[in-house]
Amino acid sequence: MKLLVTGGAGFIGSEFVRQSIKNNLETVVVDKITYAGDFERLKSVEKDIKFYHCDITNKDFLGHIFKTEKPDIVVHWAAESHVDRSIFDATPFIDTNVKGTQILLDIAKKYDLEKFINIATDEVYGDLGEEGQFFENTPINPSSSYSVSKASADMLGRAYYRTFKLPVITVRPSNNYGQWQYPEKLLPVVILKALNNQKIPVYGKGENIREWLHVEDCAQAVHTIIKKGKINEIYNVGSGQEKRNIDVVKSILNILNKSEDLIEFVKDRPGHDFRYSLNFDKINSELEWSAKIKFDEGIRNTVSWYLNNIEWLKTKMSVIEDYWKKAY
Ligand SMILES: NC(=O)c1ccc[n+]([C@@H]2O[C@H](COP(=O)([O-])OP(=O)(O)OC[C@H]3O[C@@H](n4cnc5c(N)ncnc54)[C@H](O)[C@@H]3O)[C@@H](O)[C@H]2O)c1
Repeated sequence: MKLLVTGGAGFIGSEFVRQSIKNNLETVVVDKITYAGDFERLKSVEKDIKFYHCDITNKDFLGHIFKTEKPDIVVHWAAESHVDRSIFDATPFIDTNVKGTQILLDIAKKYDLEKFINIATDEVYGDLGEEGQFFENTPINPSSSYSVSKASADMLGRAYYRTFKLPVITVRPSNNYGQWQYPEKLLPVVILKALNNQKIPVYGKGENIREWLHVEDCAQAVHTIIKKGKINEIYNVGSGQEKRNIDVVKSILNILNKSEDLIEFVKDRPGHDFRYSLNFDKINSELEWSAKIKFDEGIRNTVSWYLNNIEWLKTKMSVIEDYWKKAY
């Protein structure tokens, strides 16, 4: 079985690829290596994969890759993924997440694939108040340019099953955390700033709630879906571990033995979704998958990974600081 993985040099995609290699799966990676992509994440499996430096909006090159590789399974992780950047400029989000997905689907439908795994997000559902959960059949109602672009990609995938019988499965994971996350996202930002004794910006009062899923669990869920998932189904992938942002920040400060005085509340993100919460009974009962890593253990491992890989974090700082100056 040959896998073609888009966005395999990203945070979650690279964990997925490392697990594919562990599972002895022939794996081809297609990645543009944007600011968020990094081949370093694939160094440990470099010899075991085939890598194409390719933008998924490049129809000709992508077509050539499919013709050469003839994959059995496509796993589509490639995306612009940072909500804040989509507020600053939505263009790359529409280009990659919508147009890129359409180009990939158009090429994929010419091949006899077993499965096309289309990675969406819990953010396609919009947000919740203190109560309630999102089910796979909850109508989608995205609220940021990022989540709208992901919702479009999600719907395009399902349309290609209905129209062309492309064997699409839609996956909607919750908020991931863990090793190798690009340091513009909450956890690595907090770790970096805390280590430098810098103020840690927290949106609003930090009361927004996310459902924290360890990246290893997310990647394992997708491997389970490849093995057992049914075509044309949607699977929510959640952990049930909901935390307020402020509590996540405090846990990290506590692990690093730093003062909570470092926390600085800043003006809330425009249109900030309050809470996401996935009902994941379907993947649990039908595919017998559940998240293994509890937040308290996962956050400790994550902090310790960043402490051991601080040099990698530092290589990202000049790009991030540039962006922070422009965007905030
Ligand atoms: N991070 C999360 O919490 C989370 C939660 C749910 C769903 N998701 C989804 O999972 C996927 C992976 O997220 P991530 O956090 O690993 O993202 P990431 O930003 O770390 O990685 C994205 C990868 O896609 C590549 N890429 C971007 N544009 C491309 C293009 N035009 N052509 C080819 N490659 C391109 C980048 O170089 C990078 O390697 C995304 O689809 C995201 O929407 C993420």
